[in-house]
Amino acid sequence: MREDFETLARIGSTPEGGIGRPTFSDAHFAARKWFLARAEAAGLDTRVDAAGNHSAVLPTRHRDARVLVLGSHLDSVPGGGRYDGTLGVVAALHVLLAFKQAGTDLPFALEAIDFTDEEGTLVGLLGSEAFVGTLTVESLQTPRGGRDALMAGLRRAGLREERLLDARRDPRSLAGYLELHIEQGPRLEREGVQIGVVTTIVGSRSFRIVLRGRGGHAGTMPMDARRDAAVAAARVILRVQEIVISDFPSAVITVGDVRLEPGAFNVVPGVARLALEFRSQDDGELDAIESAVLARIRAEAEAHGIGLEVIPVARWQPSRLDPGVCDAIERAAVALGLTTIRLPSGAGHDAQSFAPVTPTGMIFVPSVGGVSHDPREYTAWGDVVNGLNVLIGTVDELARAD
Ligand code: GLV
Ligand code: MN
Ligand code: MN
Repeated sequence: MREDFETLARIGSTPEGGIGRPTFSDAHFAARKWFLARAEAAGLDTRVDAAGNHSAVLPTRHRDARVLVLGSHLDSVPGGGRYDGTLGVVAALHVLLAFKQAGTDLPFALEAIDFTDEEGTLVGLLGSEAFVGTLTVESLQTPRGGRDALMAGLRRAGLREERLLDARRDPRSLAGYLELHIEQGPRLEREGVQIGVVTTIVGSRSFRIVLRGRGGHAGTMPMDARRDAAVAAARVILRVQEIVISDFPSAVITVGDVRLEPGAFNVVPGVARLALEFRSQDDGELDAIESAVLARIRAEAEAHGIGLEVIPVARWQPSRLDPGVCDAIERAAVALGLTTIRLPSGAGHDAQSFAPVTPTGMIFVPSVGGVSHDPREYTAWGDVVNGLNVLIGTVDELARAD
């Protein structure tokens, strides 16, 4: 498994020691191709569905049996780390290899999946939502990465927009969903615990905010005559952060991208485009944050004579993972002599697509320094092995209960 993990870490590797594998980049294609070839060489069945999800399958002898899905993603954020997503896919593959080698008679088939575009370079959770049937035609109209990038990406991948929804599987064909992932936060390390049993996955909402001021000459336009879109953007960024820190202390808000137009030393920016997202474990709180933050942005824009456009981009509900699967993960960990805590996930995961339709669970292993979405992302190899073993043990637990 370590050899496979390190092979993948070289595909799309960056000088900073991380990974750059945005959806449908050459490096992403190469990683997916490697995954399929590795599975085939090991004697597993393989498939690619209409949403581009790449699967390795270990069939069961039982006719009409359901499938237990083990998934994660091989795409990365720009400047990402080696573990986010990749760990779950490699571990899933090795669970199949372990059961194949052992010749275990499982009551369900096992499917290890690399889902398309988890990170949202293009849409976000594209493959897993297509798989469970919640991907909507509307979400493809105003995708996070822009419509043109989505269309170009699908073309490069040989996928057709009108066929993406055909990737849907009948939930009755599923026995459940499991995902191993790095924690991406500091709790396990801080508390000296080996395994995290995930109880809930955060919900999030994202918006594109367009601020329109007045452009002009940076040398001649008097300061008191300016309606500078960059200054408006700065105000918005500070205000929304203040609101969340003071009124919603358990939520988070981020402006992750700012584009100024036209973008030059000697031009007062006329337009600023912001990528805004906020997250909470509570849907009611997401409503409250949305009202408070958008009202404040409107007030700021009005007070400074700035035109405003707010474009909703994505909404993901908070998800609750299955208590029975949480118990199974915990039993598997305890049987291996590992320490556990239950914790919520502040990151999004393909598991959240599955939670509403099939018993779903997630296993976390510690992230050193809590660092993720960064090349410094690191998990000690012993913790990776613990995660793999808990995943295997959980499959075993679920097989017993089936
Ligand atoms: C994915 O990692 C996300 O939480 O945005
Ligand atoms: Mn991930
Ligand atoms: Mn991620």
